Amino acid sequence: MNEYLLLLGADSYLRERALAGARQASRLPIWNVVADPLRVNNRFFDGCIHADPQDKEGILEAIRCTMAQRQLAPRAIVPVNDWSLRQATFLNRELGLTGLSDEVTAQTRDKFLMKQKLRERGVPTAAGRVIGGPAELDDALREIALPVVIKPIDFGGSGGVSLARTPAQAHEALKFAMDMMDEYAEAYQVDATRFLVEEFIDSEEEVSVEVLCHGEQFQAIAVTEKYLSSLPYFAEIGHLVPSHRSDDARLKEIACQACHALGINLGIAHVEIKVRGGQYWVIELAARPGGDAIMDLVENAYGENMYKRHVLSYLGCDPLFESLPVARKTAAISFLKAREGEIAQIRQDVDIPAAMTNLEIIVKPGHVSEASKCWRSREGIAQFEWDEIRATRRTDFIDSSQALADAIFVMRS
Ligand SMILES: Nc1ncnc2c1ncn2[C@@H]1O[C@H](COP(=O)(O)OP(=O)(O)OP(=O)(O)O)[C@@H](O)[C@H]1O
Ligand SMILES: [Mg+2]
Repeated sequence: MNEYLLLLGADSYLRERALAGARQASRLPIWNVVADPLRVNNRFFDGCIHADPQDKEGILEAIRCTMAQRQLAPRAIVPVNDWSLRQATFLNRELGLTGLSDEVTAQTRDKFLMKQKLRERGVPTAAGRVIGGPAELDDALREIALPVVIKPIDFGGSGGVSLARTPAQAHEALKFAMDMMDEYAEAYQVDATRFLVEEFIDSEEEVSVEVLCHGEQFQAIAVTEKYLSSLPYFAEIGHLVPSHRSDDARLKEIACQACHALGINLGIAHVEIKVRGGQYWVIELAARPGGDAIMDLVENAYGENMYKRHVLSYLGCDPLFESLPVARKTAAISFLKAREGEIAQIRQDVDIPAAMTNLEIIVKPGHVSEASKCWRSREGIAQFEWDEIRATRRTDFIDSSQALADAIFVMRS
């Protein structure tokens, strides 16, 4: 039987470097899952399984057909985003391949279970309570004092996450989360019936840590500084690697403890942590590499493709570094935001900041720009690189991105 490596979730925007990393990890042909290969053919991949990427039973059947008819079997099935984790865990179990356990996968896809586990293991995290709908909200607010953050139990991209300072705002925030689920729960197969009411950790300081997991060994590889939109929303508007907190041993220890607490024993995990006055709270973690091109930033700064390590792990190899990589540069991404309203024109004749290495506008004239609420409020993407590594938080690229967005997007008056 010939073999291939199946990458799940890698053919999406800002996950392109997963394929490059997989090629560094293995010489096997690399396949993806495609719903309609007759009409969509991603030629960067060597082959594909013809199935709906969300339909784990359908993928399994198609894999088995390919084994029987073409004598081709997957050596490893590697998820690289949230929406492929459950599928990969199921497929790896059914096919006897290396994968996360069902228990670990369930814990990392349910923000409440996750935090329960963290608390049990003494990892600092915000207090929270699960509710099913508005009828239970007032009760929850008696337990978790205002201000609170309300969010769907299993979603991403800050979708449906917002802050409430009053009971009325809490009802609005819950409606915001529920509306988001009405729109996306089916497509992403996420739980639309439960929401989390959480203690608000009042701090703009936030990082994510990429942790390489191997059995009970953990290496905190890179710390990313996060930049957030204005309240009451928490849209991520930029990321920078390496954060000026990269040498904070306690921070990295907490990130590793969080992975240990959840039993993540392979691959790269992405741990989000709030920082305030020398204290830390784990906001959440995911058993897959960071999204939003954070892995690209790590690769730019450290010269290491972390997807390679992630794939090695699923191939059953030891992916750990003998000596941890050292950052040689600073890399950042920012998400361009037009002012609210309809975009009348997109100007090309603008001055590009010296450190900018890439600029992509992802909307067209006629697009209506909303306030920065979550991943979908973005109008463009800018990447930056500097040779220097600063010891303090830099915000210049966020400011220059806003100035650039103001110059590019001409709004209808
Ligand atoms: N309890 C809290 N206190 C303060 N801020 C919070 C809290 N919970 C969430 N946030 C903010 O909201 C953001 C999004 O929340 P969370 O990470 O739980 O949702 P998400 O949609 O899975 O996020 P993403 O996919 O963008 O990482 C966090 O990164 C953080 O900035
Ligand atoms: Mg998050």
